[in-house]
Amino acid sequence: MLIDLEGIDGCGKSTQTKLLQKKLEELGETTVILKEPTNEPHGQKLWDVLHGKRKATNEEILGFFLLDRKQHVDEKIQPALDNGTVVLMDRYYYSSMAYQVAGGLDVDYVRNKHDFAPTPDIVLIFDLPVSTALERVRGHSEADEFEKEEHLEKVRTAYLNLKVDPIVRIIDATRNPKEIFDEVWNLVSEVRNG
Ligand code: TYD
Repeated sequence: MLIDLEGIDGCGKSTQTKLLQKKLEELGETTVILKEPTNEPHGQKLWDVLHGKRKATNEEILGFFLLDRKQHVDEKIQPALDNGTVVLMDRYYYSSMAYQVAGGLDVDYVRNKHDFAPTPDIVLIFDLPVSTALERVRGHSEADEFEKEEHLEKVRTAYLNLKVDPIVRIIDATRNPKEIFDEVWNLVSEVRNG
């Protein structure tokens, strides 16, 4: 089983990923949390771009994510699935279908570049207003803030546009972690029980 947890920065997906792992392990599942971008060389290059240390066009950025993701699928994701491990993705190609689409690329174009990547059984998108998310991740310089907010609004819209995809579930992430997790668990249980 492959579960993808998604959302804008500050949406609380990391907390929910850990809660989900704990619950699945209690039920005797073997699980792994895998995060993208990775710490491998392609992923490292991406961190430089994301932190403004290296300039790149949207197309180049997508190219870096594709290289990083191909390696991740080959070396970690597919082997884990072959083992019967439940794979919890803290970001996967649905992040590219939100962030790189917000950057200007076409969503079908981005999706079609991922035919090498196993399709998730379910994609959970943790949705909340950008202002709430930013309050949670404060600590950035104020000058960056406006640009960041505008960009994240586009990312949020791109995520919400994915709701037409039958494997996508949009979750209201403004609630407390316990309430959110109850919904996460209901949704994952539906998929687990077939
Ligand atoms: P994130 O998981 O937010 O890292 P952290 O919280 O540890 O800093 O991911 C880093 C950024 O990468 C995030 O802003 C989203 C972006 N990203 C993309 O633009 N496209 C992608 O395909 C992925 C996986 C991430």
